[in-house]
Amino acid sequence: MNALPPRLSRNEMTELVMPAHTNGAGGVLFGGVVMQWIDICAGIAAMRHAGGPVVTASIDRLDFLSPIHLGDVVVLQAQVNFAAHTSVEVGCRVETEDPRTRNRRYTTKAYLTFVAVDQNGRPRPIAPVLPETEEEKKRFLEAEQRRAERLRATGRNTGK
Ligand SMILES: CC(C)(COP(=O)(O)OP(=O)(O)OC[C@H]1O[C@@H](n2cnc3c(N)ncnc32)[C@H](O)[C@@H]1OP(=O)(O)O)[C@@H](O)C(=O)NCCC(=O)NCCS
Repeated sequence: MNALPPRLSRNEMTELVMPAHTNGAGGVLFGGVVMQWIDICAGIAAMRHAGGPVVTASIDRLDFLSPIHLGDVVVLQAQVNFAAHTSVEVGCRVETEDPRTRNRRYTTKAYLTFVAVDQNGRPRPIAPVLPETEEEKKRFLEAEQRRAERLRATGRNTGK
């Protein structure tokens, strides 16, 4: 299978925080809503790389650095960092934009692992990643390291 560059998987998604997304009292966005947006944004990047359906296998820890408020614009950017045999790591960065000033604040980032699946829901082999830029090469190596740590933490072996 030919290796694919991360740029082919890149995905950007923009959301507007509506009243139903917030915890009534302070007008602050629910963390679970951001998690859903991250899962969708990153999942689309994973599907682009895998060329078909994927399932979310894991999400690494999430830290919310600043609150997101009613009326804010939320910009999510995702891209595949690394692919193993059937799984990919996708990085997703979340920024919040104040529409009045257009100022953007970094809110959180997440690393998600998706597994490509066949019609029976079983893992399916996918193409390797071919990092092109220096930044992508750095992300690739860091993602490989995170994968090893993740597999160690869940008692799986890295297959190496
Ligand atoms: C993800 C899933 C298909 C893996 O099935 P499995 O029988 O464990 O498959 P395998 O042991 O062959 O592992 C397949 C790949 O998944 C990866 N994987 C499995 N569990 C993982 C986890 N918790 N975190 C990271 N990677 C994981 C393995 O490392 C392997 O990757 P590789 O082939 O690139 O080396 C299966 O666990 C599943 O269907 N889970 C539910 C997914 C789902 O419904 N997600 C939505 C959230 S509710």
